[in-house]
Amino acid sequence: MSTPRRLVSSGLALTLLPLAACSAGSAAAPAPDTTSAASPAPAASTPASTGSITPSPTTRVSPPTPAVDCRAKKCLALTFDDGPGPYTDQILDALVKHHARATFYVLGQQAKVFPAVLKREQRLAMAIGDHSWSHRDLSRATLPKATEELSSTAELIRRITGSAPTSIRPPYGAYRKNTPHIGLPFILWDVDTLDWKHRSTSRTTHLALAGAHRGAIILMHDIHPSTAQAVPGIITTLQAKGYTLVTVPELLGPMSPDGVYFSAAPQGIAKPPSTRPTPTARRR
Ligand code: NI
Repeated sequence: MSTPRRLVSSGLALTLLPLAACSAGSAAAPAPDTTSAASPAPAASTPASTGSITPSPTTRVSPPTPAVDCRAKKCLALTFDDGPGPYTDQILDALVKHHARATFYVLGQQAKVFPAVLKREQRLAMAIGDHSWSHRDLSRATLPKATEELSSTAELIRRITGSAPTSIRPPYGAYRKNTPHIGLPFILWDVDTLDWKHRSTSRTTHLALAGAHRGAIILMHDIHPSTAQAVPGIITTLQAKGYTLVTVPELLGPMSPDGVYFSAAPQGIAKPPSTRPTPTARRR
């Protein structure tokens, strides 16, 4: 069990944009997942449900039985946003082959199209997080709309996998002080591969490895073939350097449900994002 740490903020006054990231390109209907057992449902443009989820804001969000003690191991977390999609299985195959874990921040509209891939993520003990329904900028959404975006996705994840998501990644890393947490911590990142922007396997690999450090949270997107091709090499190189690849809940241990985390930097000191946002890059 990891000790609590890295709580960066429980209420920033303004929108915080750690980096330009998170592709909204997945909003376009992707090709059907031919590797999935279940037939894909048609894409939906609006949330299917607006139900809320547990735990309550007063309950700390703890990971299930941790498989790894990150106090003793040199842990870091690979995270993948905007799926599930046609390339997610390729990434899962690499993770399984190398006994690694990762965290997937899924869009509701994608989970509805690729439910079998989401189930596979859960079956393989990956962590699943909420990335909103339609990749909406929650810092610009009304409170009811932001709640609907997050709650509908959380409810769909629970319906498909039988388990609630364990954390939230706001699209673009954008949120405000009053953005609803629906009882879950916000997980940002401190290493950005910018894979959505350059779509280069070698660049993705370089940026992931160059930024890697103990406690890092590395951002990638499982909707790009260039990223899927980079993942096996990233995993094996990191493991050769002594890293243990874990899920975000394993990395962070118990989290505050209204907290915002960027990494598991040692001694509770949060590392700043590796890159800074720019208005143009943020919106692409
Ligand atoms: Ni995203």
